[in-house]
Amino acid sequence: MTEPDTEHVVEVRGLRKSFGTNVVFDGLDLDVRRGEFMTLIGGSGSGKSLLLKSMLGLSPVDAGSILFEGEELLGDTDEGFRRARENVGMLFQASALFDSLDVYENIAYALRQRGESDKAMIDATVSDSLRLIGLPGIERMWPADLSGGMKKRVALARAVAVRPKVIFYDEPTEGLDPINVTRVNRLLLGLSRTLDATTVVVTHNMESAFSISDRVAMLFEGRIIGSGTPAEMRAVTDRRVREFVDAVLD
Ligand SMILES: Nc1ncnc2c1ncn2[C@@H]1O[C@H](COP(=O)(O)OP(=O)(O)O)[C@@H](O)[C@H]1O
Ligand SMILES: [Mg+2]
Repeated sequence: MTEPDTEHVVEVRGLRKSFGTNVVFDGLDLDVRRGEFMTLIGGSGSGKSLLLKSMLGLSPVDAGSILFEGEELLGDTDEGFRRARENVGMLFQASALFDSLDVYENIAYALRQRGESDKAMIDATVSDSLRLIGLPGIERMWPADLSGGMKKRVALARAVAVRPKVIFYDEPTEGLDPINVTRVNRLLLGLSRTLDATTVVVTHNMESAFSISDRVAMLFEGRIIGSGTPAEMRAVTDRRVREFVDAVLD
């Protein structure tokens, strides 16, 4: 398939979503540019996870527009989302490995879900994916035998096994110690370059956000209230962005 000639991989316009009286998206706009490494920040419960899921059609929205490579996803059918999901790798928040499957089967699962059934192809891709995350040859280990950091990295291998053009990571460093946070951040950056993928990362770790991102976007009370390069975000005068960024960067 040829790359569509669009600067933006995802364009979200006027997104609205409420749960009863809880307004989560209140006319939210967001652009994700092709090839960029974007970090999405915002307080707990601000809707970061929901936004990633909404962009994949995994959580229905009330109104608005979501374009994926120029194609409207919020149409009458699920066809657009199906195509989007084929092109996007997703690491869900607190995503766990299946404890009853070994590392090989955990990664192979993602490939089989996408319809891959050729054993030689699956073997090679699992092996490559483990090499990409710096843990070659651990196919036959079990989740119970892995440290927290290793489990996270295998979950990353599973997310990228399908070689997605776009990758969403929801809090990939949550619960890790500082050494593993640094290691996983380097991996994310390395994966985005090796796979030439557009990346959106949700994180609470402001140091990560500001050290590895091309752009940072902040979600607050249902909208993206600021976005820009780390330098631009540091210079923002909007008090709501300032308070959030200063609190965690100082
Ligand atoms: N399935 C759901 N039913 C009701 N409320 C939900 C559901 N999913 C998320 N929410 C609400 O939407 C808001 C955003 O949640 P979430 O996207 O998980 O926040 P974040 O990831 O930024 O911490 C929260 O107020 C949460 O309670
Ligand atoms: Mg979340």
